[in-house]
Amino acid sequence: MAGGGSTPEAAEPGKKGAAPPRPSARRARDALVFTLGVAAAVLALALLGGPASPSLLALAPGRAGLVLFPVPGPADGPPTFYDDPELSYAVGGGLAGWDAKRAAWLRSRGLRRRGGPERVVMVSGSQPEPCRGPAGDHLLLRFLKNKLDYCRLHGVELLYNNALLEPSMAAYWAKIPAVRAAMLAHPEAEWVWWVDADAVFTDMDFSLPLARYAAYNLVLYGWPKEVYERRRWLGLNAGVFLLRNCQWSLDLLDAWARMGPASPDHAAWGRTIKAALSDRDSDVACDQSALAYLLLTGRERWGSKTYLGVDFYFQGYFAEIVGKLGGVAARYEAAEREAAGPGVRRRHAEREHLAYAAARNAAVRAAGVPGPDGGGQSGWRRPFVTHFTGCNPCGGRRNPMYSRELCDGGMHRALGFTDDQVLRAYGFRHAAPLNDTIVPLPFDYPAAARNR
Ligand SMILES: *[C@@H]1O[C@H](CO)[C@@H](O)[C@H](O)[C@H]1NC(C)=O
Repeated sequence: MAGGGSTPEAAEPGKKGAAPPRPSARRARDALVFTLGVAAAVLALALLGGPASPSLLALAPGRAGLVLFPVPGPADGPPTFYDDPELSYAVGGGLAGWDAKRAAWLRSRGLRRRGGPERVVMVSGSQPEPCRGPAGDHLLLRFLKNKLDYCRLHGVELLYNNALLEPSMAAYWAKIPAVRAAMLAHPEAEWVWWVDADAVFTDMDFSLPLARYAAYNLVLYGWPKEVYERRRWLGLNAGVFLLRNCQWSLDLLDAWARMGPASPDHAAWGRTIKAALSDRDSDVACDQSALAYLLLTGRERWGSKTYLGVDFYFQGYFAEIVGKLGGVAARYEAAEREAAGPGVRRRHAEREHLAYAAARNAAVRAAGVPGPDGGGQSGWRRPFVTHFTGCNPCGGRRNPMYSRELCDGGMHRALGFTDDQVLRAYGFRHAAPLNDTIVPLPFDYPAAARNR
C-alpha cells in the first residue's frame, strides 16, 4: 500500500466506526466497505503482531486507499440477463436469446471485442468426495497443478469444479451442467474449454489455434469418417472439448443432457443409441456415445458446426504416447542445443513464456523434428494433451486392458515430462523421467550439458 495523507481518525484505527454520515445510499455503502476494510487490515496487523503501521493511513475514509471497488447495488449499471428472476443456471433451464443477452452484457461492461484475443475459460473437475485409491487425491492434485501451470502460462482462466451441479448427473455426465453454468458465469469468455481431470498438458508451448475454429462452435478430437460413416462412438473423444459461448451451444447442452441420467428417458435413450451406433456394447447411454449419436443424427444442425479432427493431439490416447516421451524430450533438447545463438536457451521471466514458446517451436521445426505443432500420431513433436482414459487416477477401477505399469508409470512419466518444461523457468529439472528429485540447470542449458 502506498502511504496516503493522514487524518486524525485514521491514525487511530480503533475508531473505525467514526466515519461521518454520508448523504447518499451509495456513499453509505462505500463507508461500510471502508469500515470492513479497516477492520480487516487491523486484524491482519494484529495477526502479524506488528504495530499499527503508517500504511494504515491509506485506509482513511474519503481518501485513496484500500477499497477500489464500491459495492454495487441493484441500481448500479444497466440491467442485464442476471437481473431476470427467471434465469436458471441449470441444464434445461430454457434460456433463449443468449447471443443478444451476452452481447448486451459485454456492451454494458465496455468489453466488446475489438480484434483482441478471444477469452477462454477452462473447466475441469472431479468428484465431491475423497478418492478411493490411496494415492488418488495426490494424483488429482498433480493433474490439477498441471492445468494451473498451463493456464498461468497461457492466460487462460481455470474453473475447477468438484460439486455435482445436478446430483443425478454424476461421473462423466457432470461436465454438462458445469460447462453450462460456466457459460453464464463467464459471458466475457468466447470459449469454454472442458478438460477431463485425467488429461495432462504435455506441451506447455502450444496455444489453441482458435483462428482455425472461426466457423465452428464445438471442437473435438476425432475422425469424421468414423463417426458419420462407420457410426462409431469411439470415433471421437468427449473428454476434451471447446465450446463457443453461444445459444447454439446451450441448445446442444440441453439436447445432450436430455439423453442423460437426469432425464426420465435416459434408459430408452441408451437402447436407441446402442441401436444407432455400430460399436456400442452397453445399452446405458454415456456422454460420449450420446454426443456421437447427436452428431450422427443431427449432422446438419450439430455436425456442420462441429470441428472434428486429428490435426494435432487436441487430446491424445496415452497408450500411444507415453512410450515416446523420452524420444520427444531428446529431440527437443538436441534442437535447442543446435539452435543458432543462445536465443531459445536464454533464461527468461515466466511471463515471457509465449514468445520463447514460439521461438522453440520454430527451432524444433528448423531442426527437422517431424510432426505438427501440438503433436500427433506420427512424428516426434510434443503431444499437446495426453489423456489417461481408463486409468482412473482417482482410484476407481482401471480398465483391465491396461496394466498398472502402463497407467501409473505413464501418468508419472507424463507429469514429470511436462513439469520439466515448467521448472525450467525456475532453474531446475527432474533428475530423471520417473524421479521426483530435481536438479539445478546449468547456465545456457541444454548447450552447456554437452560440455559438462
Ligand atoms: C533420483 O535422483 C537423485 C539425484 O540424482 C538420486 O540421488 C536418487 O537416487 C534418484 N532416485 C531414484 C529412485 O532413482
